[in-house]
Amino acid sequence: MALIFLDTASLDEIREAVSWGILDGVTTNPTLMMRAGTADLKANTLKIVDMVPGPVSAEVISTDAAGMIAEAREILSWAENVYVKIPTTVEGLKAMKEISSWPNGRINATLIFSPLQAYLVAKAGASFASVFVGRMDDAGLDGMAVVRQTRAIFDNYGFTCKVLAASIRHPLHVVDALLAGADIITMPFGVLQRMIRSPFTDAGLDSFLRDWAKIAGQPGT
Ligand code: G3P
Repeated sequence: MALIFLDTASLDEIREAVSWGILDGVTTNPTLMMRAGTADLKANTLKIVDMVPGPVSAEVISTDAAGMIAEAREILSWAENVYVKIPTTVEGLKAMKEISSWPNGRINATLIFSPLQAYLVAKAGASFASVFVGRMDDAGLDGMAVVRQTRAIFDNYGFTCKVLAASIRHPLHVVDALLAGADIITMPFGVLQRMIRSPFTDAGLDSFLRDWAKIAGQPGT
């Protein structure tokens, strides 16, 4: 089964998605924190952790390995289901190698744009490899191809690192990520809403109820 994560720092969106009973986790990043209007990463992450039993990702701000490692130590101490998001750079790779040796070294390697980056983060011990599908599509590249290639490479070599399809822009991305064998798909709340809503379902239901009203309660029926 592929896991569904919400890509948001908005507590209202998370609360609503949790109530649907199908949410497996949450990913945040500094941009999403800005959109949610809070710079208190710890407080916001802990509020999300209170609502979501599955993985909750919080991203470091440092760009050097030592700084990322120090931030990761702090972030990972907040709760057992918190994952630290580390950017896929040379410094990030060094940090991942160190953090993954810790008993609680749960890493979401972020900003992946090629299967080679995905291979390296898996080697460095990341738990999740976040492939940014939509941003590649925006640049005229085939983002989903990177998800497919990453899936094949991880399977070839038995990596346990999960393929996480990120930067999801619309429901068709979700369909393609499911067909590509992504382990996790993180998406904005709007995409999750569009996964379940259909005007055909609404019209079909209206028509059933209208027809039922014509017959129900009629004498002899
Ligand atoms: O959480 C990372 C990723 O999903 C960002 O998506 O829409 O900013 O490219 P986007």
